[in-house]
Amino acid sequence: MKKFTLSAAVAATIAIFAGAASAESNSAVLTIDGQEITLRAAAPDYIDVDEVISGWSFRTAETQALQMDDFDNPGMIFVDQAIDDWNTVDGSEGKSCASCHTGGPEEFAGLRAELPRWDEAQGKVMNMEDYINLSRVEHMGAEPWKWAKPRMDAMVALISLQSRGMPINVAVDGPAADMWEAGRELYYTRVGQLDMACSNCHEDNYGVMIRADHLSQGQINGFPTYRLKNAKLNSTHARFSGCMKNIRAQPFAVGSDEFRALELYVASRGNGLSVEGPSVRN
Ligand code: HEC
Ligand code: HEC
Repeated sequence: MKKFTLSAAVAATIAIFAGAASAESNSAVLTIDGQEITLRAAAPDYIDVDEVISGWSFRTAETQALQMDDFDNPGMIFVDQAIDDWNTVDGSEGKSCASCHTGGPEEFAGLRAELPRWDEAQGKVMNMEDYINLSRVEHMGAEPWKWAKPRMDAMVALISLQSRGMPINVAVDGPAADMWEAGRELYYTRVGQLDMACSNCHEDNYGVMIRADHLSQGQINGFPTYRLKNAKLNSTHARFSGCMKNIRAQPFAVGSDEFRALELYVASRGNGLSVEGPSVRN
């Protein structure tokens, strides 16, 4: 079970927001159109919780329901838009994604579960956005898409969907180890006027109500997420940015080395959960 070990400052901050507790869902499995999604799994040994839990479990029944059927999931509209982009010729080479990836987006089944990951040929840790832009720039002769913008987020969702239900399996060792370490450091570093770290909310206090929001573990297995709040898909970096603003810290830039490191680390905290994207959150 989770333990409440709060520093006085953090306890005071949380207390300002705290309201009535509400129960989180105990289901271990969510089924979407016959596909099984693991909502709870034994935590990897390098993190300080017993169990990793999908953010879905902390949402209200109404929000949860939207993700239980693809016809109700508003994120799927954006997946459809990405299918149009998939088939649209762009750039100096006169090609669309479909020209080369003839097996369709299904070719990328399994990819989302491993990202971010070290890529030997590129000599760096690659995110989904990097792969999409690599193809756009190097293979299509097209402009790269901006991160955390609708076209990019939609394509990330389309490709992520191909891995839905597969266990997140992000490597934390090998050539990515230093970056992972940097991400871990960021996760535990207090920042902003509220002087809080990601861990203060998402590790020490998940399950607690903060304002009207039920705190989750801040997992990213469900990304991109469709948020009811802004009625669009949200990327991991956009969400990290929002959380930093909420604690009145100056967020790192979308696509920055800091957020890349944080994404690698946070992704690894979800090893064992299923790829869920595009998920629905408030
Ligand atoms: C001209 C051919 C070509 C086109 C067009 C193309 N790609 Fe690629 N793509 C490749 C090749 C080749 C690779 C293998 C990595 C490399 O050598 O760059 C690749 C790799 C990828 C990967 C990583 C796959 C993996 O398993 O590592 C993704 C994701 C991807 N492409 C997405 C896209 C998307 C989305 C589009 C359209 C916006 C697109 N590609 C257009 C040739 C292409
Ligand atoms: C003051 C508490 C607080 C801090 C500190 C905080 N967050 Fe959050 N975060 C929230 C709340 C509230 C939500 C929305 C409810 C939920 O999913 O927990 C949220 C949501 C998230 C989500 C979405 C989870 C999902 O399932 O969709 C991610 C990812 C996340 N936070 C990551 C981070 C990271 C990384 C940091 C550190 C840079 C951070 N948060 C710092 C309060 C916080």
